[in-house]
Amino acid sequence: MNQIDLKDRVMVVTGGARGIGYAVAQRALRSGAAVALWDVDGERLERSRSELSALGPVSVVKVELTDEASVEAAALKTVETHGAIHALVNSAGITGGNGLTWELPVDMWRRVIEVNLIGCYLTCRAVVPHMIAQGYGRIVNIASVAGKEGNPNASHYSASKAGLIGLTKSLGKELATKNVLVNAVTPAAAKTEIFDSMSQQHIDYMLAKIPMNRFLMPDEAASLIVWLTSEDCAFSTGSVFDLSGGRATY
Ligand SMILES: NC(=O)c1ccc[n+]([C@@H]2O[C@H](COP(=O)([O-])OP(=O)(O)OC[C@H]3O[C@@H](n4cnc5c(N)ncnc54)[C@H](O)[C@@H]3O)[C@@H](O)[C@H]2O)c1
Repeated sequence: MNQIDLKDRVMVVTGGARGIGYAVAQRALRSGAAVALWDVDGERLERSRSELSALGPVSVVKVELTDEASVEAAALKTVETHGAIHALVNSAGITGGNGLTWELPVDMWRRVIEVNLIGCYLTCRAVVPHMIAQGYGRIVNIASVAGKEGNPNASHYSASKAGLIGLTKSLGKELATKNVLVNAVTPAAAKTEIFDSMSQQHIDYMLAKIPMNRFLMPDEAASLIVWLTSEDCAFSTGSVFDLSGGRATY
């Protein structure tokens, strides 16, 4: 495993209680960072904290990412605990299930946009002023290849991830002279608990689209994501990095 230097850095990982966010937290801790896990699942947060604490300093904050006050409070608490926030990885996300656009419940369509897009906007909004003030920051948004291509039976999810790519590009340009870099990654399917919310037909569809003919491993995603949060990532911002096993063509 390559060494990534995150010594004395503090990283927030939303959705860090499980899945890709958990793998990111693990790799960040092994790279010398202190990590704050922000997640809505309090029980799972505690379990993850006790598993990860052997690797380095871990704090947890129970947060509802669609709630502005909850996100602001999480940012304040993290700065209070660790003294700073140098990196933000927006990994929390939901699929909202699968269905045709005109048959998906309106509430579910809205909820997916709220969590996957507005949630990331709110975390950026809470953390960016702090990063500007300290003259350093790295933000990585976990979008999806679905946001580039549009998956059938997942219009809410695809639209939310396309929106997140747009947010990344705009914010990256706004912060380009501040040493606060904002990038996105676009994974293809990784076998995490998020699969429980998708139909087998949809999972088969996603696998069939991947030229490498296998699912992404969370650790493979963490390698790229954690590098993007490091100082070594210096001249890339507002950009989108592929994690699709050959699926993406742009
Ligand atoms: N796994 C995949 O196949 C895949 C593919 C492409 C993109 N992604 C994206 O990667 C990210 C991570 O996916 P994963 O597979 O690790 O998912 P996961 O379901 O394993 O973990 C997501 C975490 O987000 C948390 N969360 C959800 N809604 C929240 C909210 N409102 N407030 C706070 N926390 C909330 C959950 O509690 C959970 O711990 C997601 O944004 C997902 O859309 C995943």
